[in-house]
Amino acid sequence: MQTFSCTVVTHAPGETAALAERLGAAAETGTVLCLVGDLGAGKTLFTQGFARGLGVTEEVTSPTFALMNQYCGRLPVTHFDLYRLEREEELDEIGFYEFAEPSGGVVLIEWADKFPDALPKPHIRLEIERGDTEDERRLMFFTTEEDSALWRALMEK
Ligand SMILES: Nc1ncnc2c1ncn2[C@@H]1O[C@H](COP(=O)(O)OP(=O)(O)OP(=O)(O)O)[C@@H](O)[C@H]1O
Ligand SMILES: [Mg+2]
Repeated sequence: MQTFSCTVVTHAPGETAALAERLGAAAETGTVLCLVGDLGAGKTLFTQGFARGLGVTEEVTSPTFALMNQYCGRLPVTHFDLYRLEREEELDEIGFYEFAEPSGGVVLIEWADKFPDALPKPHIRLEIERGDTEDERRLMFFTTEEDSALWRALMEK
């Protein structure tokens, strides 16, 4: 299957947040974003901007301890953080397969690479890498489905 990709380099947290907000504003039901990157890469910051773009006014926090948070925006937003999970069976216990089903909204999954086979398909993969300076980040987006509102918004940047 063909994979499409797009890389955006940002130079400040606000730049990442603004991009995320714009993509969130375009996102449609069924969008699943799998976020990959080291500690402090910017996965939660991106999620916060994305949720804002979706009209979430509540504060979006890292679900590192809660494992999953849900928010109400223009669409329901489900935010997972799999960092603390050790075994794939735990996904079942936390209701991952039920709640990661994007049928009524948008799903964002931090540390998605921990359980690559468990991720909903299709999804957009976002890898965030640090750049040469403290505040530089390379955001690399991948998808097999070019024909989505989010991907079109990304291409319009
Ligand atoms: N260009 C940038 N884009 C995003 N974040 C940046 C950028 N430059 C600096 N930062 C900083 O990097 C940090 C990103 O933190 P964040 O909690 O989003 O990371 P994370 O990937 O969710 O980490 P964790 O795996 O611990 O959950 C923030 O402190 C943010 O201010
Ligand atoms: Mg995080």
